[in-house]
Amino acid sequence: SPRKFFVGGNWKMNGDKQSLGDLINVLNTAQLHPDTEVVCGAPSIYLDFARANLNPRISVAAQNCYKVPKGAFTGEISPAMIKDCGAEWVILGHSERRHIFGESDELIGQKVAHALESGLGVIACIGEKLDEREAGITEKVVFAQTQAIADNVKDWSKVVLAYEPVWAIGTGKTASPQQAQEVHDKLRQWLKANVSDAVADSVRIIYGGSVTGGTCKELGSQKDVDGFLVGGASLKPEFVDIINARA
Ligand code: G3H
Repeated sequence: SPRKFFVGGNWKMNGDKQSLGDLINVLNTAQLHPDTEVVCGAPSIYLDFARANLNPRISVAAQNCYKVPKGAFTGEISPAMIKDCGAEWVILGHSERRHIFGESDELIGQKVAHALESGLGVIACIGEKLDEREAGITEKVVFAQTQAIADNVKDWSKVVLAYEPVWAIGTGKTASPQQAQEVHDKLRQWLKANVSDAVADSVRIIYGGSVTGGTCKELGSQKDVDGFLVGGASLKPEFVDIINARA
């Protein structure tokens, strides 16, 4: 595949300077596949710490941001602040933001637009819940989520699409390589029909949901799986094996 393999770690609300410092030491001293793009998603209060300590070969992402540059929005952070900390990416639309914090497609779209306008790369997350998969509406759900994102994207070179079935997140129930490939292929077809052939061919579609050192190789060998967004395993030395899944 001409698409550069992309492995993101999403630390979520985990770690402290001690444990994240230990993890950073592991990543900094490991042999990372030179053709794989690596990004670590730090809690906002540790963005500076992560950027200051991680090897520059590893990029830093925020896990969320707001939709405007500044103002009276207590508790929020802007893309400008994320960039000021030296981070280059933001994760938006994560299922935990959607389902625990009630973020709508509309709000996520506004955040995507503002983050891209501000010069951040966006890891845009989509994915169906278990009842939606069981009802046979996986495609309908992920296409609608993708539409709300696509409506707000001008430059797709700064976007990575993360397919994360909600039933696979933090559950140990990894999607099978076939299940992941099927949805990734459908998403690429959707991009072809609704955006352009060029974007469909070039945009990285990464998989997230209980990816481990044990499951990453077969998942990563699927034609339309261009990397991973990793939660739990990104906090362990095992993350190195996932980064090197294509090695
Ligand atoms: O953003 C990462 C996903 O939510 C996956 O998390 O690897 O702990 O299942 P997990």
